[in-house]
Amino acid sequence: MAPKTSPKAPAIKHFLDLDRFEPATLREMIEWGKDFKRGQAPGGEARPFVGKALAMVFERPSTRTRVSFERAIRQLGGDAIVLETQGSHLGRGETVADTARVLSRYVDAIMIRTTDEAKLLEMAEHATVPVINGLTDRTHPCQLMADIMTFEEHRGAIENRVVTWSGDGNNMAASWIHAAVRFGFELRLACPEPLNPPADLLDWAREQNGRVLVTQDVEAAVEGADCVVTDTWVSMGDETGDSQQRHDLLRPYRVDDRLMARAKPDAIFMHCLPAHRGDEVTASVIDGPRSVVWDEAENRLHAQKGILYWCLS
Ligand code: CP
Repeated sequence: MAPKTSPKAPAIKHFLDLDRFEPATLREMIEWGKDFKRGQAPGGEARPFVGKALAMVFERPSTRTRVSFERAIRQLGGDAIVLETQGSHLGRGETVADTARVLSRYVDAIMIRTTDEAKLLEMAEHATVPVINGLTDRTHPCQLMADIMTFEEHRGAIENRVVTWSGDGNNMAASWIHAAVRFGFELRLACPEPLNPPADLLDWAREQNGRVLVTQDVEAAVEGADCVVTDTWVSMGDETGDSQQRHDLLRPYRVDDRLMARAKPDAIFMHCLPAHRGDEVTASVIDGPRSVVWDEAENRLHAQKGILYWCLS
C-alpha cells in the first residue's frame, strides 16, 4: 500500500530581503506598485485587502514606514495595528517566537522593524503568516523597492544604469547591493574604508556577477552617474559610537553641488530620509532641482502596496 501523504503546505510568502527573490518576482511587485499608483489595481479589485489586517512591530522609531504601510493597507480595504516595544510584552521579555505565534492568530501579515536581523528571522521562522522586513541593522528592502520605482519614474529602466552611493556602508547600502544584482545596474559605493559594507555582501555580489564596486575615491565614483544616493551618517543603532569620529570619516563623502556636477547632467539625487542638511547632503542638493526625495518618500506607499499584494495574494 502506498504511504499516505498529506498535501504540502504552500510556502509562506515572507518579504525578508531582495537577494531571496528572483528578479522577475521583484519586477512584478514594482509593476503592481506602479499600477496601484495609477489607480489601476492589479486583478481589477480596488480593495483587495478587505477583511485583512497587518501588524506592525516597531523596535525603533519611524515616520515613513509606519505611515506608508498603514495608509497602504487601509487604502486597499484592510486594517493595521501598531505594536511598539515599550507598549507591548516584547519590551518585557516575551520572546519574538511567541509574539510571532500569537500575532499569526490575529492578523494576515506582520511587518517588523528591528535593529537585530536575528529577530526578523526568528519572527519569520515562527509566524504562520507573511513577515515583512521594515528595516533591520543589515538591510532595508522596502525602501529599495520604492527607490527603484522612483528612479524609473524619472529616468526610465534602471537596468545598465549607474548608481553611486556616497557615505556609510550601512543597511541602505546593503540593500542597494542586493538591488544592483537583482535589477542589473552598476553600483559604485564610495565609503570610508572602516565603514565599508559587510564583506560577505560584497562576496555575494561578486559570486552573482554583479557590477558592484567599492572605493574611497568619491569623485571618481560619481563621474557619469545616473543617480547619486546618500544616507544619514548615524543610522539607528549607531548612536552609541564615537559620533565625532564618524563625522570626520564621512565628511569627504558629503553630497554637494560640486560632487553632483561630476554626475550626468540629468542625474537625480536620492535619500531615504530622514536627512541632516549640512552633514551627508547640502541643502542646495536635497532641496534643489535634481532631488527626487519627496517622490521617493511617496513611493513607499505605492511600492509597499505591491509588496503587500504579493504577500497576501
Ligand atoms: N526611510 C525610512 O525608512 O524612514 P522612517 O525611518 O521614517 O520609516
